[in-house]
Amino acid sequence: MSDSKALHKIAKSLVVPRKGILAADQSPGSMNKQLAALDIPETPEMRRKYRQLLFTTPGIEEYVTGVIMHDGTIRNYTDERVQFSDVLISKGIIPIIKVDTGTVPHNNFPGEVVTQGLDGLEGRLREYYDMGARAAKWRAVITISDDTPTLENLRTDSMSLARYAAMCQSVGIVPMVEPEVLYAGSHSLERAEAVTTETLKILFTALKEQRVDLSGLILKSSMVLAGSEYNEQSSPREVAEASLRTYKNSVPEEVPGIVFLSGGQTPERATENLNAIAMKEKEVGGYPWEFAFSYSRGLEQPVQQAWLGDDKNVKKAQEALLNRLRLNSMADSAEYTASME
Ligand code: G3H
Repeated sequence: MSDSKALHKIAKSLVVPRKGILAADQSPGSMNKQLAALDIPETPEMRRKYRQLLFTTPGIEEYVTGVIMHDGTIRNYTDERVQFSDVLISKGIIPIIKVDTGTVPHNNFPGEVVTQGLDGLEGRLREYYDMGARAAKWRAVITISDDTPTLENLRTDSMSLARYAAMCQSVGIVPMVEPEVLYAGSHSLERAEAVTTETLKILFTALKEQRVDLSGLILKSSMVLAGSEYNEQSSPREVAEASLRTYKNSVPEEVPGIVFLSGGQTPERATENLNAIAMKEKEVGGYPWEFAFSYSRGLEQPVQQAWLGDDKNVKKAQEALLNRLRLNSMADSAEYTASME
């Protein structure tokens, strides 16, 4: 099998019907904030125990194709000293590594950030490949306000995403390119659609310019919805229609899959909107891309609330994870209803 065929196969296996991706790639800082909000001690050991709880949940492989991890997590171990990536591989789950190193202010562009992490990336990717990673995520952050995003910000982030994607493919790793258009803000649904469409068009132009194989990547996207501070929240039907119109206008057909982040929506809303997208897909008879969830907060909030850092609650927390995964699996096939909550 040629290298590109192997990449296509991995990309496709990440987006199969009724399954999704668990984004457990919070940085230590973000994870600590989530722990602190529930009065759980913000220690490396609690972070390790939490990831152990997630990855050892019996039966997650029924709903999960891949798990995204931060550098510290992919190197970490269970109580029995089994590396987390090996735990996942033994369940047939693909380890995915987050490889960007976060954002910094975009100099001369107030209110905008750019994502870093290209220096030394190829070497790091080879190391992650040896640890079993077969996909890698890079997140760019796009803010909507009266003055943003600027064309320059979109171009800068797209260029980095394209360089990272090309490096990933050169070492046999599928890039999961994530231009996150933030939900935070007071923008309308129409503005979210216009910005997401422009963002994706610029991104795919850059990916093509860098000769990235579009059949060997996954797009991780925000759903298209009015901002969190807008006076009217978008209905599931509106989110589905705006999101699908956006992708039709900006995502090339060769891309095998589009996976969604939850972006600060409640777990229930993220599931309801995924279901609406699947319903619309059925109505029109299908799209070129396979859709799937790739949530962090949308899957993990109920898990953290059930666990509370107490060993006695591990089983209850694992059941909360399975419950959320099951609901999203149903939503992926348009079989979810709110009464299932
Ligand atoms: O980069 C973002 C994560 O992979 C998804 O996180 O579902 O909480 O937005 P989220």
